[in-house]
Amino acid sequence: MKGNGLTFRQDYFDDPAGWSAVKALILDIFDVDITPLDTVGGHDQTSFPSAFFDETGCCIANLSAFAMPLVIDGRAVKAAGWQSGAVRPEYRGQGLFRDLIRTTLDRCEKQGYEAIVLYTEKPGLYEPYGFRAVPQYVFKGAAPPPANGNARARSLTIEADLARLRSLLADRTPVSHHFAVADQSKMFLLNCHLLDDVRLSLLTGDQTVIAWRMTPDHTFQLLDVVGRTIPTLAEILDGLDLAPTSVESFIPPDRLSFPADPVLDTGPLVFMMRAADSLRSGGPFCLSPMAEF
Ligand SMILES: CC(C)(COP(=O)(O)OP(=O)(O)OC[C@H]1O[C@@H](n2cnc3c(N)ncnc32)[C@H](O)[C@@H]1OP(=O)(O)O)[C@@H](O)C(=O)NCCC(=O)NCCS
Repeated sequence: MKGNGLTFRQDYFDDPAGWSAVKALILDIFDVDITPLDTVGGHDQTSFPSAFFDETGCCIANLSAFAMPLVIDGRAVKAAGWQSGAVRPEYRGQGLFRDLIRTTLDRCEKQGYEAIVLYTEKPGLYEPYGFRAVPQYVFKGAAPPPANGNARARSLTIEADLARLRSLLADRTPVSHHFAVADQSKMFLLNCHLLDDVRLSLLTGDQTVIAWRMTPDHTFQLLDVVGRTIPTLAEILDGLDLAPTSVESFIPPDRLSFPADPVLDTGPLVFMMRAADSLRSGGPFCLSPMAEF
């Protein structure tokens, strides 16, 4: 119990009241409803949240961490993601978040995480703790010429095809050797609900799902590829039977045979990483929006 009447709790997501309380905090502070997670098997079991609760069971402040294994320049990296960092307005400026950062950092170090990644609009909050902003890029280029194959994909929905999606996510190969998430299913499934206009298509052979969008000006946006192998961009477009005017890849294109130009993403969200310099990828990269957390 803190002097201000708050109770410190850890790893409380399996307590239904605690889980409801953190969902309410995230809805109140970020206007994001994570209830759809309950329809895809609940919270990520690797989560290790730390939080303060008041005497009524209301979650006043929270910072969650979870396993986010990465591949960086061909090397498997034991990384953690941080998310849902928030303090209710009436309790701000009292050092609650500082406490949660220090506790979560300590827990990550004790568990041997080599890297920590997060998204924030307030990078200054994390810089004192060794986090550095890492620019994100979108990879743009001309679409490859249409092929003459007759492969056809079929659309999936997470409601009707959840079991198949989960099994492909559990067995996926990283979309890039350069920078990619190696194993993270929950955010993909939640982002199917949270992101606008995401389409999921299962390529012929039933082994690969493409997450994509088509913009009104007929630009194909590649958001993610989930499967044991990564098809080239030409194979993807052929499988989807699409002939767009241009392509924007939101995954690094090194496995796509797609000669693209990296264009700096200037959006408000900053991707930050806390890791040894040797783990910082050299070239331009991005993390798939389907892995965004
Ligand atoms: C950002 C937020 C979590 C800070 O909570 P808080 O309990 O007021 O923070 P603390 O009192 O523990 O302050 C911790 C440190 O962060 C600094 N800080 C607070 N808000 C900050 C901001 N917007 N930008 C940069 N630094 C900030 C404080 O000055 C303090 O620095 P110090 O340790 O050197 O004294 C809270 O304002 C909030 O929930 N905001 C809305 C959601 C959000 O932005 N979440 C974080 C982004 S992922």
